[in-house]
Amino acid sequence: MICSKVYLIDDDAEMRAATAQWLELAGYDVITYANAPTALAQLHSEIEGIVVTDVRMPKMDGMEFLARLNAVDKELPVILITAHGDVQMAVEAMRQGAYDFIEKPFAPERLLDVIQRASEMRRLVMENRDLRRRLSNNVDIDQRLIGNCPSIRHLREEILNISDTDAPVLIQGETGTGKEVVARCLHDFGARKEGNYVAVNCGAIPETMFESELFGHERGAFTGADRRRIGRFEYAEKGSLFLDEIGTMPLSLQVKVLRALQEREVVRIGSNEPQPIDVRLISATNKDLLGECAAGRFREDLYYRINVIELLVPPLRERGGDILLLFDYFSAQASATYNRPAVPLQDLDAGLLMAHDWPGNVRELKNIAERCVLSSLPDGQKLSAMLRNPNSEAVLVEGSSLQDLVRHYERCLLEQSLLRHNGDVQSVMEDLNLPRRTLNEKMTRYNLDRKEYT
Ligand SMILES: Nc1ncnc2c1ncn2[C@@H]1O[C@H](COP(=O)(O)OP(=O)(O)OP(=O)(O)O)[C@@H](O)[C@H]1O
Ligand SMILES: [Mg+2]
Repeated sequence: MICSKVYLIDDDAEMRAATAQWLELAGYDVITYANAPTALAQLHSEIEGIVVTDVRMPKMDGMEFLARLNAVDKELPVILITAHGDVQMAVEAMRQGAYDFIEKPFAPERLLDVIQRASEMRRLVMENRDLRRRLSNNVDIDQRLIGNCPSIRHLREEILNISDTDAPVLIQGETGTGKEVVARCLHDFGARKEGNYVAVNCGAIPETMFESELFGHERGAFTGADRRRIGRFEYAEKGSLFLDEIGTMPLSLQVKVLRALQEREVVRIGSNEPQPIDVRLISATNKDLLGECAAGRFREDLYYRINVIELLVPPLRERGGDILLLFDYFSAQASATYNRPAVPLQDLDAGLLMAHDWPGNVRELKNIAERCVLSSLPDGQKLSAMLRNPNSEAVLVEGSSLQDLVRHYERCLLEQSLLRHNGDVQSVMEDLNLPRRTLNEKMTRYNLDRKEYT
């Protein structure tokens, strides 16, 4: 970052021209103004440069100008040029945050020297801000992919490292480890974040619909195709396409996907016209895809094409203290959703959380935390009851109020319907016979996001 701009404000045209010429010869980029109000209209907090201003000016004097600039950006260096003998004012200006002052008449070298130091300081300030901005992005990813253990920290770093590239990524991990969270972060923290993030659950689409889902169709391409529909590949243009559970994709379709990736184009069903595509492919699987290849269920050539970068999401049981961290997080989240007190870890037998094997990984933990918040069993008994009967809703029933049970049931029903209809709100409304408004209110109350089901 270079901060070599000098904004020069002086009402004396001759003086302005002479100083500007000096500074330009010294390599600065000089922008001049005849008065402070005009300059103020142009100056903002992202300026990569400094201000040099005369003090005695009509319309607005240098002291007021300084105060106004301070309000725009406290860290913008302002150098004042004062009349000979105006020591009092100069002292006051420094107190008000001026970078320095120079008494008229001055030797040009002296001004250059001050400007050089001020520019250097500005450069450091701007670099620092830039750094802080980038770090604050990292803070965001901390809050999305939660965890402090080395493997999760490393995973976050890898995500940020590769999020700006277009290379295909394959995310592998057991069920419920957070593969979808990782996919979403790759998109949201990458260069394509302004584009669409399009998720396709390959396990949920009937084989006969697959091709039309991914590649789209022209009107009349087959019975029932009463209008043109663009496919998910095209919909993800300039964005990311997430093929979830890619291991379940039918072999017949794998050839076509491979072709689309190789040629970077798709052909809608019923059309001869290839459409160019620009998408970043992210895939996920909880299967051993190489094993699937060996068994003849997954094409090896497709495997190598989608697996240019491989991310492994570790199982929860290998994340140590993160189990407690995540429990706290989900407990707080559930307490907000259901408007119930959170369950503090110290009241629970946390050792049980650490000793559990977590076959359902983070999703299972989230479920347990939620049930702990809802259950009215004494805190000390909650975990032992739930972890003993992992699948028994009875645990929830035992100590819960009717109202909580109803809410929990309602949320489950909404969630199931959203899943069945791939997050299509219209279908859920019809399915559950709910007006849109009521559905919206309930989804907000239960923290349900339709996008998570598409
Ligand atoms: N590190 C994490 N921080 C916060 N939430 C997480 C984290 N990992 C997972 N979750 C949450 O846990 C649940 C399961 O995660 P996700 O759906 O991403 O898992 P998955 O690996 O895609 O599972 P599956 O294999 O079943 O598709 C989600 O509600 C997700 O938001
Ligand atoms: Mg998933």
